[in-house]
Amino acid sequence: MTTIPDLFEQMAYGPAPEDASAAHAWLGNHEAVFGHWIGGRWTSPRRDFQSKNPADGALLAELSQGTAEDIDHAVRSARGSVKAWQSLSGDQRGRHLYAIARQVQKHARLFAVLETLDNGKPIRESRDIDIPLVARHFYHHAGWASLIEDELPGSQPVGVVGQVIPWNFPLLMLAWKVAPALAAGNTVVLKPAEYTSLTALLFAEMVHRAGLPPGVLNIVTGDGATGRALVKHQGIDKVAFTGSTEVGREIRSVTAGTGKALTLELGGKSPFLVFSDADLDGAVEGVVDAIWFNQGEVCCAGSRLLVQESVAIVFEERLKRRMQTLRVGPPLDKAIDMGAIVDPTQLQRIERYVEMGKAEGGVCWQSDVVLPSEGCFFPPTLFTGVESAHTLAREEVFGPVLAAMTFRTHDEAIALANNTRYGLAASVWSENVNLALDVAARLKAGVVWVNCTNQFDAASGFGGYRESGFGREGGVEGLWAYRRATADLPADQGLSPDPMPEPLAPREGRTLDRTPKLYIAGRQVRPDGGHSRAIPSPDGSLLGEVGEGNRKDIRNAVEAAHAASAWGRVSAHGRAQVLYFLAENLEARSKEFAARLLDCTGRDGRAEVEASVRRLFIYAGWCDKFEGAVHQAPVGHIVLALPEPIGVIGVICPDEAPLLSMVSLLSPVLAMGNTVVLVPSERHPLIATDFYQVLDTSDVPAGAINLVTGSKDLLAQVLAEHDDVDALWYAGHADLGGMIERWSIGNLKQTWVTAGQRNWSDPTLGEGREFLRRATQVKNLWVPYGE
Ligand code: NAI
Repeated sequence: MTTIPDLFEQMAYGPAPEDASAAHAWLGNHEAVFGHWIGGRWTSPRRDFQSKNPADGALLAELSQGTAEDIDHAVRSARGSVKAWQSLSGDQRGRHLYAIARQVQKHARLFAVLETLDNGKPIRESRDIDIPLVARHFYHHAGWASLIEDELPGSQPVGVVGQVIPWNFPLLMLAWKVAPALAAGNTVVLKPAEYTSLTALLFAEMVHRAGLPPGVLNIVTGDGATGRALVKHQGIDKVAFTGSTEVGREIRSVTAGTGKALTLELGGKSPFLVFSDADLDGAVEGVVDAIWFNQGEVCCAGSRLLVQESVAIVFEERLKRRMQTLRVGPPLDKAIDMGAIVDPTQLQRIERYVEMGKAEGGVCWQSDVVLPSEGCFFPPTLFTGVESAHTLAREEVFGPVLAAMTFRTHDEAIALANNTRYGLAASVWSENVNLALDVAARLKAGVVWVNCTNQFDAASGFGGYRESGFGREGGVEGLWAYRRATADLPADQGLSPDPMPEPLAPREGRTLDRTPKLYIAGRQVRPDGGHSRAIPSPDGSLLGEVGEGNRKDIRNAVEAAHAASAWGRVSAHGRAQVLYFLAENLEARSKEFAARLLDCTGRDGRAEVEASVRRLFIYAGWCDKFEGAVHQAPVGHIVLALPEPIGVIGVICPDEAPLLSMVSLLSPVLAMGNTVVLVPSERHPLIATDFYQVLDTSDVPAGAINLVTGSKDLLAQVLAEHDDVDALWYAGHADLGGMIERWSIGNLKQTWVTAGQRNWSDPTLGEGREFLRRATQVKNLWVPYGE
């Protein structure tokens, strides 16, 4: 007979199943077959595909595969309700969001159980993490709805938003997308992932009950084909996507040139750095959270463990010991650490990666856990002996597989951590605050956790650098992604291209100007191709010539801009000094510039020069004022939201107001610490080549500003396709804007192609926070604080 002392000695877990009857009852009420949720009601249910419980393979429900007609129906419904939704006051919209949050809380257990049944994640996580964060997201954004008109001035809702979400955090991803979209005054068509649609459908029904007007939120179920139909529908104004980088790239391609706004939250291969002075036991717990939370199906999973060599052996031992205690099994059991993998296809994918890891020479170690005999389960897995070139160090496995490597020095740690095409998140473990913060600042990742991992909060933005996508979710940054500047004119009301008159006779009474060169790395250089182009004056005579830049010139300019990256580390005060100096020097030569503008455009240039000087002064002032924020995370952390320079930004200037538009685009880029490769107005480039004489006298570091004159179309393509140009701003006609979005599909760079849809001649337009936001990306740095 087992005695109490025996039990005490063994400390064995008994079964602790969560009751699933309410979730099955809800499914039963629908006879386990669903239509879409459109316009506040269900469409006729269809048995097109099945949703199964990955823990035992049981059928949960049958669902409708959204067709192009279904999508059209949903978009029309969202379009039909947008006016009424926007006519509500912010307070009224806020009340709706508040009611949604309450509804989620009131039915928290039902949501949690249904999520676990459908996705396979442990009930402990859906109950304690996913659903509370969902409610928190709606509460937080209920507040934003009321504040938005005051706090996000000069902006308006985007309109109808199409959203596509993945299966790893089904309801949480819905909340991350729907809450800011509605708070910002948009209406929504959302497509959940095909494996995990059920909580989205329950949510739709619930929010309807809570009084959300019909059509404001529409849910269409289906697979990638349905998603594809949604993102290409002409009736939507913005696409927000979370999922794999491959699909993100496809969506970039589908939306390119359509004028649709786009945010992408894609994959990652996030590093988890353990320095020798870290609290090693704490770091072991951190690893457990980083890679075995949600079975490792987490876009920001710490899937690359980088440990300082001096502690690597002891760390590995402790980690393996801890891995032996992880319990894998029925996700509805409240004492389970890891549940089921979402679907057999994902399980096979993980298995394939593990085989590849072994074949490439990695050493695979798995805990002795006994897996359930049926269902999609995979044990916690550790690979050691992984090298940078191995697949496991490069590719997102999206499963409970950790790839470990070692480093010796801090610099090596940072180089290894940044050696990835992704840049979503990172964890840094060290008891030395100087070291931890220094490393955090040098990591290329949208979120950095110091001595913690996988922390999320609605007030703190989340999102990546590089191929992890662009845009942020959460925080005020996330809200901006659902607004557009009121100053933006609809596409094609931009500038119609000036026809180039046939020039060529030199102007009477003028000697031909010298041929200005390109300006690269602080020096005037001849164009690589050795060609010049003639620049006509308004009367058609020859005003001068400029260098005809080509691919090689852009390459050199980009190299120079990278080499000048120290500009981003100059203090804000120091950058302001340079901008003030530029302003002063331009002012000192204002007569000369005004005369040049008259020559080039035939118009009096005095006001334009004056406005350009003022603009430089204004951005000099902004340098140390466009600051980050400190968020107070719910427990034990502060989050520093730091706007960082994006890196090298390409800027293609319009022809209108050639000096003012160039200064308006250049100054915010520079003020925020980026370096720039700028293509001046194709029609009036002489104004820019005069400008480099101002640069030469203003302490601008060599390479921080590079000017390449020539064909806008050709140079835009080179800049868009260049992997080392981190962002591209284009101010001009919509056709080329669309091409730029297409050319940059491969490298997923941030493009801002409406930068030109304003009236540049109006000196009150073309400046402000939007330019500064576009010139920065926010890094959210989580630092332990207090208890
Ligand atoms: P996926 O990227 O194919 O699916 C995500 C969502 O996009 C789903 O709703 C899907 O139906 C939809 N979708 C698929 N193709 C589409 C298209 N052409 N246009 C519009 N929507 C489309 O991800 P999947 O196949 O479920 O998982 C494959 C791998 O992707 C995973 O193993 C993982 O590595 C990665 N992944 C990354 C996620 C992240 O958050 N970073 C989330 C989900 C998957």
